[in-house]
Amino acid sequence: MTNTIAAASKAGSGTAALQARGLMKRFGALQATNDVSLDLVPGEIHGLIGPNGAGKSTLIHLLSGTLSPDSGQLLLGGRDVTSLSGHERVAAGLARSFQITNIFKNYTVLDNLVLALQACSGSSFRFWRARQAETELYEQARALAAECAIDASLLHTQAGVLPHGEQRKVEFALALASRPQVLLLDEPMAGMGPDETLRLTELIETMRGKATMLLVEHDMEAVFRLADRISVLVAGHIIATGTAAEIRDNEAVRQAYLGDDDTPVPTKVESHA
Ligand SMILES: Nc1ncnc2c1ncn2[C@@H]1O[C@H](COP(=O)(O)OP(=O)(O)OP(=O)(O)O)[C@@H](O)[C@H]1O
Ligand SMILES: [Mg+2]
Repeated sequence: MTNTIAAASKAGSGTAALQARGLMKRFGALQATNDVSLDLVPGEIHGLIGPNGAGKSTLIHLLSGTLSPDSGQLLLGGRDVTSLSGHERVAAGLARSFQITNIFKNYTVLDNLVLALQACSGSSFRFWRARQAETELYEQARALAAECAIDASLLHTQAGVLPHGEQRKVEFALALASRPQVLLLDEPMAGMGPDETLRLTELIETMRGKATMLLVEHDMEAVFRLADRISVLVAGHIIATGTAAEIRDNEAVRQAYLGDDDTPVPTKVESHA
């Protein structure tokens, strides 16, 4: 954890990048989200882990606005965005990645990036001459691709035929196009092999500090390597928040994972510091 983040986190000073207060969501008899309060410190990568069905994706939906909470409040940079739609939240600085539907599979990688940039450019291009604006957009798209380690030789390939790992990078780039203050990542490593996972972990690492990130992930090695802090969700409720070391040593967390062989809490954690 960086000193700045550690200090802000300890002192509770400054405005949280994202603050959830008492979020509740019920599906029939199931309390999927149970009084979830969560603060994301500006610039941190915050891991969210928990057993299957714990309510991680539901929480991401509540934060991104694809689901409405039954009660509770969501603040983005101190602004109450609880009643805003998903699109309005994106405009307010929140983005979500790894919804496969974000990609236009028949379009090239470059065109996907241009469309994403155009969608969030708002009125800034309105007064430009069309060709000048287009050139600028394509330059930005190439820069965004480079930033996300997308090989230039793939820019004119149809997005739908890319290998899985490359598609994930494109999705990541699409989410970054709006230059979000807060980025929600729901299982970015899902379905990836070890090499691809490592490459995406390194890519997320390079984005540290550019956006505050909430990372839901079953790949414990990736979470424990990337996260400045980790929250553990069990049965819709956050049972612990702390540094990787604190979470690893937390007895309640160990109890919650007992018998869940797919998601063991690592005994050895590599520091990214
Ligand atoms: N739209 C819905 N309607 C009814 N029940 C739902 C709905 N969405 C999720 N659930 C239920 O809510 C609970 C939490 O689901 P959720 O997908 O949020 O868990 P998760 O922690 O993301 O799990 P996983 O690790 O498997 O992705 C589960 O029991 C799930 O079946
Ligand atoms: Mg999920």
